[in-house]
Amino acid sequence: MNNMLTQKHLLGLENYPAEDIKTIINTAFQFREVLDRPIKKVPSLQGVTIVNLFFENSTRTRISFELAQKRLSADTVNFSASSSSLKKGESFKDTAQNIEAMKIDAVVMRHPAPGAPLHLTEFIDAVVINAGDGTHEHPTQALLDMMSLQEKFGKIAGLKIAIVGDILHSRVALSNIHGLQSMGAEVILCGPTNLIPPNIDELGVSVNSNLDEVMEWADALNVLRIQRERMGSALLPSVREYRSLFGITEERLTRHKKEIVIMHPGPMNRGVEIDSQVADGDQAIILDQVLNGVASRMAVLYLLCGGKPEENQA
Ligand code: CP
Repeated sequence: MNNMLTQKHLLGLENYPAEDIKTIINTAFQFREVLDRPIKKVPSLQGVTIVNLFFENSTRTRISFELAQKRLSADTVNFSASSSSLKKGESFKDTAQNIEAMKIDAVVMRHPAPGAPLHLTEFIDAVVINAGDGTHEHPTQALLDMMSLQEKFGKIAGLKIAIVGDILHSRVALSNIHGLQSMGAEVILCGPTNLIPPNIDELGVSVNSNLDEVMEWADALNVLRIQRERMGSALLPSVREYRSLFGITEERLTRHKKEIVIMHPGPMNRGVEIDSQVADGDQAIILDQVLNGVASRMAVLYLLCGGKPEENQA
Protein backbone atom coordinates (compact mmCIF):
# COMPACT_ATOMS: atom_id res chain seq x y z
CA MET A 1 0.00 0.00 0.00
CA ASN A 2 1.17 3.50 -0.79
CA ASN A 3 1.16 5.53 2.44
CA MET A 4 0.85 9.27 1.74
CA LEU A 5 1.94 10.33 5.24
CA THR A 6 5.42 10.22 6.77
CA GLN A 7 4.32 7.75 9.51
CA LYS A 8 3.12 4.18 8.83
CA HIS A 9 0.65 4.08 11.75
CA LEU A 10 -1.50 6.60 13.63
CA LEU A 11 -0.84 5.75 17.27
CA GLY A 12 -0.95 9.22 18.83
CA LEU A 13 -0.20 12.88 18.18
CA GLU A 14 2.80 13.13 20.52
CA ASN A 15 5.74 14.06 18.25
CA TYR A 16 3.48 13.55 15.24
CA PRO A 17 4.63 15.76 12.33
CA ALA A 18 2.61 18.97 11.84
CA GLU A 19 2.87 18.47 8.07
CA ASP A 20 0.99 15.14 8.41
CA ILE A 21 -1.70 16.80 10.58
CA LYS A 22 -2.14 19.50 7.91
CA THR A 23 -2.35 16.88 5.14
CA ILE A 24 -5.00 14.93 7.08
CA ILE A 25 -7.10 18.04 7.79
CA ASN A 26 -6.87 19.30 4.19
CA THR A 27 -7.85 15.86 2.87
CA ALA A 28 -10.69 15.68 5.41
CA PHE A 29 -12.18 18.91 3.98
CA GLN A 30 -12.21 17.25 0.53
CA PHE A 31 -14.09 14.28 2.01
CA ARG A 32 -16.54 16.65 3.74
CA GLU A 33 -17.54 17.68 0.25
CA VAL A 34 -18.16 13.99 -0.62
CA LEU A 35 -20.41 13.70 2.46
CA ASP A 36 -22.57 16.55 1.12
CA ARG A 37 -23.24 14.72 -2.17
CA PRO A 38 -26.45 12.75 -2.81
CA ILE A 39 -24.32 9.58 -3.24
CA LYS A 40 -21.82 9.75 -0.39
CA LYS A 41 -19.42 7.13 -1.63
CA VAL A 42 -16.12 6.99 -3.55
CA PRO A 43 -14.19 3.90 -4.70
CA SER A 44 -10.86 5.06 -3.21
CA LEU A 45 -10.21 2.02 -0.98
CA GLN A 46 -11.71 -0.70 -3.17
CA GLY A 47 -9.88 -3.97 -2.44
CA VAL A 48 -8.53 -2.76 0.93
CA THR A 49 -9.60 -4.81 3.98
CA ILE A 50 -9.89 -3.17 7.39
CA VAL A 51 -10.77 -4.73 10.74
CA ASN A 52 -12.31 -2.72 13.56
CA LEU A 53 -10.95 -4.24 16.73
CA PHE A 54 -12.89 -2.85 19.70
CA PHE A 55 -11.97 -4.12 23.16
CA GLU A 56 -13.87 -1.29 24.87
CA ASN A 57 -17.29 0.31 24.33
CA SER A 58 -17.75 3.05 21.76
CA THR A 59 -20.63 4.71 19.97
CA ARG A 60 -19.25 7.66 17.95
CA THR A 61 -15.77 6.40 17.10
CA ARG A 62 -16.89 2.96 16.04
CA ILE A 63 -19.81 4.12 13.89
CA SER A 64 -17.68 6.91 12.46
CA PHE A 65 -14.85 4.55 11.43
CA GLU A 66 -17.29 2.01 9.98
CA LEU A 67 -19.06 4.71 8.03
CA ALA A 68 -15.76 6.17 6.80
CA GLN A 69 -14.69 2.74 5.56
CA LYS A 70 -17.99 2.16 3.76
CA ARG A 71 -17.88 5.65 2.19
CA LEU A 72 -14.41 4.75 0.83
CA SER A 73 -15.62 1.34 -0.48
CA ALA A 74 -13.24 -0.67 1.74
CA ASP A 75 -14.10 -4.20 2.90
CA THR A 76 -14.65 -4.12 6.65
CA VAL A 77 -14.85 -6.66 9.44
CA ASN A 78 -15.97 -5.86 12.98
CA PHE A 79 -14.53 -7.55 16.02
CA SER A 80 -15.77 -6.99 19.50
CA ALA A 81 -13.97 -8.43 22.52
CA SER A 82 -17.20 -9.58 24.16
CA SER A 83 -18.07 -11.97 21.30
CA SER A 84 -14.54 -13.18 20.46
CA SER A 85 -12.34 -16.11 21.50
CA LEU A 86 -10.64 -13.79 24.02
CA LYS A 87 -13.46 -14.96 26.28
CA LYS A 88 -12.04 -18.49 25.86
CA GLY A 89 -8.60 -17.40 27.05
CA GLU A 90 -6.94 -16.58 23.72
CA SER A 91 -4.00 -14.20 24.13
CA PHE A 92 -3.74 -10.74 22.57
CA LYS A 93 -0.76 -12.00 20.53
CA ASP A 94 -2.68 -14.99 19.13
CA THR A 95 -5.66 -12.81 18.24
CA ALA A 96 -3.32 -10.38 16.47
CA GLN A 97 -1.45 -13.10 14.58
CA ASN A 98 -4.70 -14.70 13.41
CA ILE A 99 -5.84 -11.34 12.10
CA GLU A 100 -2.52 -10.96 10.27
CA ALA A 101 -2.88 -14.45 8.74
CA MET A 102 -6.20 -13.36 7.24
CA LYS A 103 -4.34 -10.69 5.20
CA ILE A 104 -5.96 -7.64 6.72
CA ASP A 105 -4.51 -4.33 5.43
CA ALA A 106 -5.37 -2.09 8.38
CA VAL A 107 -6.56 -2.41 11.97
CA VAL A 108 -8.54 0.24 13.85
CA MET A 109 -8.18 -0.55 17.54
CA ARG A 110 -9.76 0.69 20.76
CA HIS A 111 -8.36 -0.87 23.92
CA PRO A 112 -8.50 -0.02 27.65
CA ALA A 113 -4.72 -0.44 28.05
CA PRO A 114 -2.49 2.54 27.20
CA GLY A 115 0.01 1.46 24.53
CA ALA A 116 -2.01 -1.51 23.24
CA PRO A 117 -2.03 -0.23 19.60
CA LEU A 118 1.76 0.22 19.72
CA HIS A 119 2.05 -3.32 21.10
CA LEU A 120 -0.06 -4.58 18.18
CA THR A 121 2.43 -3.14 15.66
CA GLU A 122 5.00 -5.59 17.06
CA PHE A 123 2.91 -8.57 15.87
CA ILE A 124 1.44 -7.48 12.57
CA ASP A 125 2.48 -5.77 9.32
CA ALA A 126 -0.89 -4.06 8.79
CA VAL A 127 -1.38 -0.34 9.38
CA VAL A 128 -2.59 0.29 12.96
CA ILE A 129 -4.86 3.20 13.84
CA ASN A 130 -5.49 4.01 17.50
CA ALA A 131 -9.19 4.58 18.19
CA GLY A 132 -8.50 5.34 21.88
CA ASP A 133 -6.14 3.48 24.24
CA GLY A 134 -7.08 3.83 27.89
CA THR A 135 -6.13 7.22 29.30
CA HIS A 136 -3.32 7.64 26.75
CA GLU A 137 -4.38 9.03 23.33
CA HIS A 138 -7.32 9.34 20.96
CA PRO A 139 -5.66 10.87 17.89
CA THR A 140 -8.60 10.84 15.47
CA GLN A 141 -10.73 12.71 18.05
CA ALA A 142 -8.10 15.47 18.21
CA LEU A 143 -7.88 15.55 14.41
CA LEU A 144 -11.64 16.01 14.06
CA ASP A 145 -11.56 18.63 16.83
CA MET A 146 -8.84 20.55 14.97
CA MET A 147 -10.71 20.23 11.69
CA SER A 148 -13.80 21.68 13.42
CA LEU A 149 -11.76 24.61 14.76
CA GLN A 150 -10.27 25.22 11.32
CA GLU A 151 -13.78 25.17 9.85
CA LYS A 152 -15.10 27.62 12.45
CA PHE A 153 -12.17 30.05 12.67
CA GLY A 154 -10.41 29.51 9.30
CA LYS A 155 -7.19 28.74 11.20
CA ILE A 156 -5.73 26.82 14.14
CA ALA A 157 -2.48 28.73 14.74
CA GLY A 158 -2.90 31.48 17.33
CA LEU A 159 -6.23 30.19 18.69
CA LYS A 160 -6.74 30.10 22.47
CA ILE A 161 -8.23 26.75 23.41
CA ALA A 162 -9.29 25.74 26.92
CA ILE A 163 -9.74 22.07 27.75
CA VAL A 164 -12.12 21.91 30.71
CA GLY A 165 -12.86 19.08 33.11
CA ASP A 166 -11.41 15.68 33.89
CA ILE A 167 -7.98 15.97 32.27
CA LEU A 168 -6.48 13.17 34.38
CA HIS A 169 -8.52 10.39 32.74
CA SER A 170 -8.77 11.92 29.30
CA ARG A 171 -7.07 10.55 26.19
CA VAL A 172 -8.91 13.27 24.26
CA ALA A 173 -7.11 15.95 26.30
CA LEU A 174 -3.65 14.49 25.71
CA SER A 175 -4.11 14.11 21.93
CA ASN A 176 -5.57 17.64 21.72
CA ILE A 177 -2.67 19.10 23.72
CA HIS A 178 -0.10 17.52 21.39
CA GLY A 179 -1.99 18.29 18.18
CA LEU A 180 -3.03 21.87 19.01
CA GLN A 181 0.45 22.85 20.16
CA SER A 182 2.00 21.32 17.09
CA MET A 183 -0.38 23.42 14.97
CA GLY A 184 0.47 26.64 16.85
CA ALA A 185 -2.55 27.03 19.16
CA GLU A 186 -2.31 28.03 22.85
CA VAL A 187 -3.79 25.59 25.36
CA ILE A 188 -5.03 26.13 28.92
CA LEU A 189 -6.30 23.28 31.09
CA CYS A 190 -9.07 23.98 33.60
CA GLY A 191 -10.47 21.55 36.14
CA PRO A 192 -10.31 20.42 39.75
CA THR A 193 -6.70 20.18 40.94
CA ASN A 194 -7.09 16.45 41.64
CA LEU A 195 -8.21 15.85 38.04
CA ILE A 196 -5.17 17.61 36.50
CA PRO A 197 -2.14 15.30 36.00
CA PRO A 198 0.93 16.35 37.99
CA ASN A 199 3.69 17.98 35.89
CA ILE A 200 1.34 18.48 32.92
CA ASP A 201 2.85 21.98 32.52
CA GLU A 202 5.97 20.20 31.21
CA LEU A 203 3.95 19.71 28.00
CA GLY A 204 3.91 23.50 27.54
CA VAL A 205 0.31 24.10 28.63
CA SER A 206 -0.94 26.42 31.37
CA VAL A 207 -3.29 25.39 34.16
CA ASN A 208 -5.96 27.66 35.64
CA SER A 209 -8.73 26.33 37.87
CA ASN A 210 -10.79 29.53 37.66
CA LEU A 211 -13.29 28.78 34.88
CA ASP A 212 -14.52 32.37 34.60
CA GLU A 213 -10.97 33.66 33.99
CA VAL A 214 -10.42 30.90 31.45
CA MET A 215 -13.65 31.77 29.62
CA GLU A 216 -12.58 35.44 29.38
CA TRP A 217 -9.37 34.25 27.69
CA ALA A 218 -10.58 31.44 25.42
CA ASP A 219 -11.79 31.37 21.82
CA ALA A 220 -13.14 27.84 22.34
CA LEU A 221 -13.81 25.45 25.20
CA ASN A 222 -13.38 21.72 24.69
CA VAL A 223 -15.54 20.37 27.52
CA LEU A 224 -14.64 16.88 28.71
CA ARG A 225 -16.81 14.19 30.11
CA ILE A 226 -16.52 13.35 33.79
CA GLN A 227 -15.32 9.75 33.50
CA ARG A 228 -17.01 8.30 36.53
CA GLU A 229 -16.20 4.75 35.37
CA ARG A 230 -12.45 5.49 35.61
CA MET A 231 -12.46 7.23 39.01
CA GLY A 232 -13.30 6.38 42.60
CA SER A 233 -15.89 8.45 44.47
CA ALA A 234 -13.05 10.17 46.38
CA LEU A 235 -11.99 11.98 43.19
CA LEU A 236 -15.44 13.48 42.61
CA PRO A 237 -17.12 13.84 45.99
CA SER A 238 -19.94 16.11 44.80
CA VAL A 239 -21.39 16.35 41.29
CA ARG A 240 -23.30 19.46 42.38
CA GLU A 241 -20.12 21.21 43.47
CA TYR A 242 -18.38 20.16 40.24
CA ARG A 243 -21.19 21.65 38.18
CA SER A 244 -21.08 24.90 40.11
CA LEU A 245 -17.30 25.32 39.68
CA PHE A 246 -16.63 23.72 36.28
CA GLY A 247 -20.00 23.16 34.59
CA ILE A 248 -20.68 25.09 31.38
CA THR A 249 -24.08 26.40 32.34
CA GLU A 250 -26.27 28.71 30.28
CA GLU A 251 -26.06 31.35 33.02
CA ARG A 252 -22.26 31.25 32.96
CA LEU A 253 -22.04 31.43 29.17
CA THR A 254 -24.51 34.34 29.00
CA ARG A 255 -22.66 36.21 31.75
CA HIS A 256 -19.46 36.26 29.70
CA LYS A 257 -21.08 38.21 26.85
CA LYS A 258 -18.60 36.99 24.23
CA GLU A 259 -18.51 34.44 21.44
CA ILE A 260 -17.01 31.25 22.83
CA VAL A 261 -17.20 28.13 20.70
CA ILE A 262 -18.32 25.10 22.71
CA MET A 263 -17.01 21.64 21.86
CA HIS A 264 -17.51 18.24 23.48
CA PRO A 265 -16.16 14.87 22.29
CA GLY A 266 -19.15 12.96 23.70
CA PRO A 267 -20.68 11.11 25.33
CA MET A 268 -22.01 14.07 27.36
CA ASN A 269 -23.19 14.09 30.95
CA ARG A 270 -25.88 16.74 30.49
CA GLY A 271 -26.44 18.70 33.66
CA VAL A 272 -22.96 17.86 34.98
CA GLU A 273 -20.10 19.22 32.82
CA ILE A 274 -22.46 20.88 30.32
CA ASP A 275 -26.07 22.05 30.39
CA SER A 276 -28.50 21.01 27.66
CA GLN A 277 -29.17 24.67 26.73
CA VAL A 278 -25.43 25.07 26.01
CA ALA A 279 -24.95 21.71 24.27
CA ASP A 280 -27.91 22.40 21.97
CA GLY A 281 -27.28 26.15 21.68
CA ASP A 282 -25.91 28.37 18.91
CA GLN A 283 -22.36 28.46 20.23
CA ALA A 284 -21.98 24.66 20.26
CA ILE A 285 -20.36 22.85 17.31
CA ILE A 286 -20.74 19.41 18.86
CA LEU A 287 -22.67 17.84 15.98
CA ASP A 288 -20.31 19.45 13.44
CA GLN A 289 -17.54 17.61 15.28
CA VAL A 290 -19.41 14.34 14.75
CA LEU A 291 -19.80 14.94 11.00
CA ASN A 292 -16.17 16.06 10.74
CA GLY A 293 -15.25 12.83 12.52
CA VAL A 294 -16.40 10.80 9.53
CA ALA A 295 -14.48 13.06 7.11
CA SER A 296 -11.32 13.02 9.28
CA ARG A 297 -11.39 9.24 9.57
CA MET A 298 -11.93 8.92 5.83
CA ALA A 299 -8.83 11.10 5.38
CA VAL A 300 -6.71 9.03 7.78
CA LEU A 301 -7.75 5.73 6.18
CA TYR A 302 -7.32 7.08 2.66
CA LEU A 303 -3.85 8.49 3.33
CA LEU A 304 -2.52 5.51 5.32
CA CYS A 305 -4.03 2.80 3.11
CA GLY A 306 -2.93 4.09 -0.29
CA GLY A 307 -6.24 5.52 -1.43
CA LYS A 308 -6.66 6.31 -5.10
CA PRO A 309 -7.77 9.83 -6.07
CA GLU A 310 -11.19 10.00 -7.75
CA GLU A 311 -9.77 10.96 -11.20
CA ASN A 312 -7.65 7.74 -11.20
CA GLN A 313 -10.59 5.44 -10.58
CA ALA A 314 -11.66 3.15 -13.39
N1 CP B 1 -15.65 10.59 21.50
C1 CP B 1 -15.62 9.25 21.65
O1 CP B 1 -14.55 8.62 21.62
O2 CP B 1 -16.83 8.67 21.83
P1 CP B 1 -17.09 7.08 21.91
O3 CP B 1 -16.48 6.60 23.19
O4 CP B 1 -18.59 6.91 21.87
O5 CP B 1 -16.42 6.45 20.73
